[in-house]
Amino acid sequence: MKGLAVYPGTFDPVTNGHLDILQRGLEIFDRMIVGVAYSHRKNPLFTAEERVEMLRNVTREYQGVEIEAFEGLVINFVRSRNAEVIIRGLRAVSDFEYELQMALMNRKLAGNIKTVFMMPSAEYSFLSSSIVKEIFSLGKSVSCFVPDYVEQQLHTKFPHTR
Ligand code: COA
Repeated sequence: MKGLAVYPGTFDPVTNGHLDILQRGLEIFDRMIVGVAYSHRKNPLFTAEERVEMLRNVTREYQGVEIEAFEGLVINFVRSRNAEVIIRGLRAVSDFEYELQMALMNRKLAGNIKTVFMMPSAEYSFLSSSIVKEIFSLGKSVSCFVPDYVEQQLHTKFPHTR
C-alpha cells in the first residue's frame, strides 16, 4: 500500500521494539514520519534533539523514514504533514485501555485521522523505554533491547556504568 503514516511517541530512548513496529509499518506504508514528542510531562532523560538524533542514526539505512520532533497535539502534527494515519504499537492487553482512549480522543478531535495498531514481536512485548533505563542504570547491559548506538548514548547519561 502506498501512503504516509506518522509513528508518534516519546522514544526516550528508541528501543528494538519501536524499530520492530517501524519496520512493520514500512511493509504497509511507503513513507513513515517518526514524530518525537517533547513529552515534558514525562520528564525525559534525553532531550528531544538527542532522541531525534538517536533515531536518525539507527534508521539511516531505512528507506522512506523521516524523523521530526513535535510539540503540542499529535493530530496537529499529523495534519501539518498531510497525513491521515497514526501508527501505534500494542504490546500487551495492558496497553489497550490507554491506547483506546487516545485513539478515540484523536478521532473525536480529527475525524479523518485513523489509528492503526501493530503488534511487535513477542520478544519485545515486555519492553519499554523505562525498563531499559532502569536496567542500564543498575549496571546491566541492554544490548539485546536497544541498538549499540543507543547503549553508547545511555553511558553518557549514566557515567557510573562505564
Ligand atoms: N516496543 C517497546 N516499547 C514500546 C513500544 C514498542 N513497540 N511501544 C510503546 N512502547 C513503550 C515506550 O517505550 C514507552 O515506555 P515508557 O513509558 O517506559 O517510556 C511506553 O510504551 C509508551 O510510550 P510511547 O510509545 O513513547 O508513547 P507515549 O505514551 O510516551 O507518547 C504520544 C504517546 C506522544 C503519542 C502521546 O503522548 C501524544 O500524542 N502526545 C501529544 C499530545 C496529545 O496529542 N495529547 C492528546 C492525545 S489524545
